[in-house]
Amino acid sequence: MPRVLFVSPGYPSEMPAFVRALVEVGAEVFGLGDAPAGGLPPAVRHALADYLQVRSLWDEEAVAEEVAGWLAGRRVDRVECLWEPGMLLAARLREVLEVPGLSVERTIPLRNKEAMKRVLDRAGIRTPRHAAARGEAEIRAAAERIGGALIVKPIAGAGSADTHRVEGRADLDRVVAAVRHLDEVSVEEFVDGEEFTFDTVSIGGEPAYFNVAWYRPRPLVARTEEWISPQVVALRHPAQPVLAGGVEMGRRVLTALGFESGFTHMEWYLKADGEVVFGEIGGRPPGAHQVDQMNFACDFDVFRGWAEAVCFGRFSAAVRRSFNVANIYKRAQGEGTIRRIDGLAAFRRRHGEAVVWENLLPVGSRRRNWKRTLVSDGFVVVRHPDLAATLAMADEFASEVHLYAA
Ligand SMILES: Nc1ncnc2c1ncn2[C@@H]1O[C@H](COP(=O)(O)OP(=O)(O)OP(=O)(O)O)[C@@H](O)[C@H]1O
Ligand SMILES: [Mg+2]
Repeated sequence: MPRVLFVSPGYPSEMPAFVRALVEVGAEVFGLGDAPAGGLPPAVRHALADYLQVRSLWDEEAVAEEVAGWLAGRRVDRVECLWEPGMLLAARLREVLEVPGLSVERTIPLRNKEAMKRVLDRAGIRTPRHAAARGEAEIRAAAERIGGALIVKPIAGAGSADTHRVEGRADLDRVVAAVRHLDEVSVEEFVDGEEFTFDTVSIGGEPAYFNVAWYRPRPLVARTEEWISPQVVALRHPAQPVLAGGVEMGRRVLTALGFESGFTHMEWYLKADGEVVFGEIGGRPPGAHQVDQMNFACDFDVFRGWAEAVCFGRFSAAVRRSFNVANIYKRAQGEGTIRRIDGLAAFRRRHGEAVVWENLLPVGSRRRNWKRTLVSDGFVVVRHPDLAATLAMADEFASEVHLYAA
């Protein structure tokens, strides 16, 4: 029975599904986290064979020592972490416990956007022109060198936080001031285009399953304008010619990074002239229930597929892509508590068959912070074999269903 050490089994909210899947494929799961065992979701608590609570997950050496003492010679076959901030700790634990999987050296480029692009540049992959910059003078020098419209963002950002588009010289003053609190930033050529994902469950660096999703609109726009209902659409036909360049790039990126087994989540840009440009990649699944979305697209269990891949090096589920699937995330209008939801009953009447998950915050709940979570005040998931029909429904939900808070 494979024994898996799982970092942060209770958070983020998708982790319990991965723990459940490991147990289902026959693994014994040891949890490691900073939450008290009593605070874990009950399903996780019961699934774990044992759990170690540490004071902080960020003191890697102290955690490694404590874990070694706790395991007391019990052999571990895998160390898994699907939560971005914990990936370096997981890599360090692999090294200390002599467990196969991504090393610290291989994990750094997955966490540091400049290191990532340097590795990919060496492999001849088209990244945005870029430079790392510390402080105002370096940002200005990088901007001068790269030229044109720019993006300035954190070296290890998430959720588009502190990500700024720079339009011209005067705008650079504003952005320089806005990122003053960051030690180091990445300055990039602004790439205009559509934005897609390339997500995989890989085995030994080879995708055993992959998914392409389309962001509508681009995340930076969606994260800037509150009135937008962002959509992520898993595409039923990822082998179609317009996507081929992104998929091919995705495979080359995995090879260049020396990725091994597990989930990956890459983002890439498709320019109007057809050019494909790398965006970023994480050695983890996408968030915001985009893994559930994959399940709705293929009517399978990709959580379990992942568990099988990391425990046994196989992915046995048949991949039958029957649907395009759209997740549409909602932001309420007004602040405070959700008071009313308009248009939902009519939407259900029209498209009830296509709605596979309705997960809006109910009336009476406090609004979530839409800047901090793409899930915002909830979402619905709709699916249809035809892409145009899927997009029409998604747009209709976006424009005709409204949540009001006060
Ligand atoms: N060079 C670029 N050109 C155009 N847009 C960019 C560029 N870099 C970032 N963006 C925009 O900003 C968004 C966030 O950037 P990026 O994906 O690098 O950071 P992140 O904060 O890690 O994202 P996530 O929301 O996936 O956690 C991108 O999805 C894209 O819309
Ligand atoms: Mg991103």
